[in-house]
Amino acid sequence: MSAPNKSYDPVEVSVLKPEAVEGAVSDALAAIAAAVSLEELKEARLAHAGDRSPLALANREIGALPPHAKADAGKRIGAARGAVNRALKERQEALEAERDARVLVEETVDVTLPWDRVQRGARHPLTTMADRMADVFVSMGFEVAEGPEIEAEWFNFDALNFPPDHPARAMQDTFFVESEDSGMVLRTHTSPVQIRALLSRELPVYVVAPGKTFRTDELDATHSPVFHQLEGLAVDEGLTMADLKGAIAAFVNGLFGDPLPVRLRPSFFPFTEPSAEVDMQCFVCHGESVGNPDRACRTCSSEGWIEIGGCGMVNPRVLRAAGVDPERYSGWAFGLGVERTLMFRHGVADMHDMVEGDVRFTLPFGMEI
Ligand code: PHE
Repeated sequence: MSAPNKSYDPVEVSVLKPEAVEGAVSDALAAIAAAVSLEELKEARLAHAGDRSPLALANREIGALPPHAKADAGKRIGAARGAVNRALKERQEALEAERDARVLVEETVDVTLPWDRVQRGARHPLTTMADRMADVFVSMGFEVAEGPEIEAEWFNFDALNFPPDHPARAMQDTFFVESEDSGMVLRTHTSPVQIRALLSRELPVYVVAPGKTFRTDELDATHSPVFHQLEGLAVDEGLTMADLKGAIAAFVNGLFGDPLPVRLRPSFFPFTEPSAEVDMQCFVCHGESVGNPDRACRTCSSEGWIEIGGCGMVNPRVLRAAGVDPERYSGWAFGLGVERTLMFRHGVADMHDMVEGDVRFTLPFGMEI
């Protein structure tokens, strides 16, 4: 900064010359007008109104002027800086308004755009049905157990009292893994989970095991090579077939909301003795279609009963294979068909609908996830 000087004349000091001041103002106004963004305006403000701008430097020179010259220089520089500051303020406001308008457009959410072009996924009706069936037993105190779908033959057959040459083994129409002597099969029923549950749990055991099962059937209206079962197993002291029948009756009541009668028909399974097929009374005609052509029932083919699975008292040989003392403990087991249950509970006439994955079939069952 210059030192005070009596003979100092503002018009002699180059930065204070009127032409220099006017030039600084017009440079500033041009830069301000040329700024098209707030960043550029910030640069223009620094260059033309900042501490090191020509007008700021000129302003500083005023202090060094003799008193008679100060007023004139002060007026001119003040007016020049005022003009620049006004221009800066106006441009700042204009650029901010532009930015706000642009942000409003850029960040607009079009609430009218469709949001449901891609359907949300949902669980398959067979999965929800298997869960619902298992839930009825869970509410009676059963636990859910699991086993692998690729199963050792020992669990699928041997431990369940199918000797190697037993005709039931062939009856099962088994998918063997790799070769017939690999010892591994796709499980033909959920009954191997009985053995796994007994080997891995403390007694007493009350479990249900929903799951996929496989047999070499062709897909037709009532068969599928992949299907589902719900296995049940209770092993405790003093269990009888009456408990088995009572549990199945409670299941039917729980699933159908109706205490429909249950009947057991003698049958055979190597792993239960005695064995039975489980029928429930038809929930549509309540048996009234039997011998009554006027009231024919499609659900039970006018038989009055619907077969829902197999059951029996656990064969003592099976208990022994799983390390349970049959002198002290007895047990019962059942296997219910999930596809069958879905078919007659919901009037599904054709197995194809359950496996083809067409959402027009699944949608009416709801979108439970
Ligand atoms: N595992 C038998 C089947 O697949 C059903 C069953 C289970 C029978 C448990 C008796 C006891 O046909």
